[in-house]
Amino acid sequence: MRMVIFIFKLILLVTFLVDRSVGGITSILDDPLKAIKDELDGLTFIDQRLAIVYPLIKNFKNTITSDPLNITGSWVGSDICSYKGFYCDNPPNNLTATTLASIDFNGFQLTAPSLDGFLDQLPDLALFHANSNFFSGTISPNIAKLPYLYEFDISNNLFSGPFPNSILAMTSLSFLDIRFNHFSGSIPPQLFTKDLDILFINNNNFIQKLAEILGNSHIFYLTLANNKFFGPIPHSIAKYLSGTSEVLLLNNMLSGCLPYELGLLKETVVFDAGNNLLTGPIPYSIGCLKKAEVVNFAGNMLYGVVPEVVCAMGNLANLSLSDNYFIHVGPICRGLIKKGVLDVSKNCIPGLPEQRSVVECAAFFAKPRYCSYMHTYHYLPCWLPGFSDSLTEPAPAPF
Ligand SMILES: *[C@@H]1O[C@H](CO)[C@@H](O)[C@H](O)[C@H]1NC(C)=O
Ligand SMILES: *[C@@H]1O[C@H](CO)[C@@H](O)[C@H](O)[C@H]1NC(C)=O
Ligand SMILES: *[C@@H]1O[C@H](CO)[C@@H](O)[C@H](O)[C@H]1NC(C)=O
Repeated sequence: MRMVIFIFKLILLVTFLVDRSVGGITSILDDPLKAIKDELDGLTFIDQRLAIVYPLIKNFKNTITSDPLNITGSWVGSDICSYKGFYCDNPPNNLTATTLASIDFNGFQLTAPSLDGFLDQLPDLALFHANSNFFSGTISPNIAKLPYLYEFDISNNLFSGPFPNSILAMTSLSFLDIRFNHFSGSIPPQLFTKDLDILFINNNNFIQKLAEILGNSHIFYLTLANNKFFGPIPHSIAKYLSGTSEVLLLNNMLSGCLPYELGLLKETVVFDAGNNLLTGPIPYSIGCLKKAEVVNFAGNMLYGVVPEVVCAMGNLANLSLSDNYFIHVGPICRGLIKKGVLDVSKNCIPGLPEQRSVVECAAFFAKPRYCSYMHTYHYLPCWLPGFSDSLTEPAPAPF
């Protein structure tokens, strides 16, 4: 028995020694620092600007903890311009040079704890799109030093913390998409005075009074949806959003009555304020949204008569007023219901199907309800044949 144990121990010892020596040899061959140095020295780049970004990409690649689509498998060698997601172009300050000009990681499903030390160090980058990855952390202040970056999309990632104020200092930025992350706190009002064409900040945890964030801007799309914005839609909205084609305020906590000035959003194609706490009647002025195709106020506490002039808007494809407390629709609106354009289910309209119970409606109207500026609710700030002569008073100057 002793003999058997002895032989067994001997075998273990020999195995151990052999393992060690093999391990020793491999670890010399695989010295990571030496390998990287060799590779850098061995490679020639078509432009010095690419040699500069090469180690940055390599370091970033080492921080990636998950790459289910094997994207980084193509990130080898000196031809950076052919790496998946990397695109080269001539930089604005030297049209004969070749540089890393744009990155498109959309849908790559990469996981990395941070973009710092990578994104913020790419001097000639003009576009960064990284929709639908698992990048996290915060955004480095150094991003403001990238002189050409004008499209910045980190939507649908895991970024958190307060709004990255460094974004305010970016001089070329025109497209900002930080949707579907975990940013929280408030948004600096200066964001809305930047000359952005596109601003998507929906589906974060921003909590703020809406009136505090609207600035003097020329934003084309404004999507604040699915946050915790609160307070009334300010009278100043027309001043700030007169050129905006999509105004998405849905799923917030906006309250108060609708301002007459909504009718001055003459470029708006989609206006969506669904699922908030808005109340009061619909201003007739909404009928002046000449380009409106989709108007959604579903899931609020609006009441009164649905104005015929609103149902008469020429381009309407979807007017959703369900889940409110409207009490009457006229013939033009009834026409829209038939066509499937207007949805007034879950209201208090006698004779229509799928309405709230009498008890529910009575409970709502038992409380006194009023809006200030009531006299503005019948103003039509535009000429509409068939309406303007009978209904309007001259529209006041916007606030
Ligand atoms: C990843 O991609 C590289 C280059 O395209 C390829 O050589 C490698 O075999 C791939 N790895 C896996 C695990 O698919
Ligand atoms: C422009 O880039 C080319 C290629 O990298 C380089 O040879 C040249 O010196 C650069 N010109 C200037 C003015 O920097
Ligand atoms: C109309 O808009 C509402 C609210 O956005 C939406 O739920 C509904 O599906 C739309 N209806 C049609 C027919 O597109």
